[in-house]
Amino acid sequence: MTNNISLVVDDSSVAGGLHVAALRWSARLLVATSWIGGAVFAAYIVVFFGGVAVGGAGERWNESLPGLYDASAPMAIGAIGAHFVAGAVLLLLGPIQLIGGVRRSVPRLHRWLGRVYVVSAGLAGLGGLVFILVKGTVGGRVMDVGFGLYGALMVLCASMAFVDARAGRYEQHRAWAIRLFALTVGSWLYRMEYGTWFLLAGGLGTGRGFTGWFDMVMAFFFYVPNLVIAEYFIRSRRKERGALVNLGSAGLLLAASVFVMAVTWIFTNGAWGRRMASGLLETPF
Ligand code: HEM
Repeated sequence: MTNNISLVVDDSSVAGGLHVAALRWSARLLVATSWIGGAVFAAYIVVFFGGVAVGGAGERWNESLPGLYDASAPMAIGAIGAHFVAGAVLLLLGPIQLIGGVRRSVPRLHRWLGRVYVVSAGLAGLGGLVFILVKGTVGGRVMDVGFGLYGALMVLCASMAFVDARAGRYEQHRAWAIRLFALTVGSWLYRMEYGTWFLLAGGLGTGRGFTGWFDMVMAFFFYVPNLVIAEYFIRSRRKERGALVNLGSAGLLLAASVFVMAVTWIFTNGAWGRRMASGLLETPF
């Protein structure tokens, strides 16, 4: 969390050459589109879940998933409520922490946002875990295990990122921070992947109460590939790459940016936008 931490969006590692510029700009585009997508998801969480709760209509959380708000289980409501707030903070802060320029020029800001990020990751994970233990997920055992593991990994990565930063082990800190970010991204990729699947395959393999084969795969799939990519990224970042590899990577990053923007637009135009508008109407302000 100081100047000497290796950078994720870093100018120095990609200096020189058109293919290098293409890679640099496509990486920036993906960070920007991811931030916009994450910020829209955060706005949806704050405006809809926060808006209806403040307006005294918490039972409307169940429009998103049945059983999210159960008046007979106040502990589950508190846990998932804390998890919503923490999740929104994570979505907004993650990309800022990755920008090399911010870390270099205002390291104090990086340190403070890092603390907020780590506490929020712990809260999001623990809140989700308490909800699973008290109420269980809508998808039953498989989803309980998939999401439970997701929460445990999030708490582990947040704790290790913090411990290594405090101990001055910046290379390890960077690796845990990248893993943590990859996990956080999973929260909205999960929704995006479902949305895309419904568009492309009409929801093939999805079942009532998340019991289809696609649902079973998704209970793990939304974060495991992210972690694999994060590991690849952590190990390969310092290696020299050829022009062809750089151009190929730039193409992939560009395609990922277009995908993120398109699905964010579809969600905003659909359920998220509708619920945000109704959440606003619910608030007493
Ligand atoms: C950036 C991090 C996260 C965000 C933004 C987030 C967001 C959300 C949102 C908005 C919902 C409500 C349902 C929906 O509208 O889709 C939800 C539900 C839930 N989340 Fe998260 N979440 C995050 C991380 C986690 C983690 C780490 C866990 C792991 C324990 C988790 C477990 C759950 C559970 C168990 C539910 C309720 C599912 C059910 O009712 O069956 N979330 N989350």
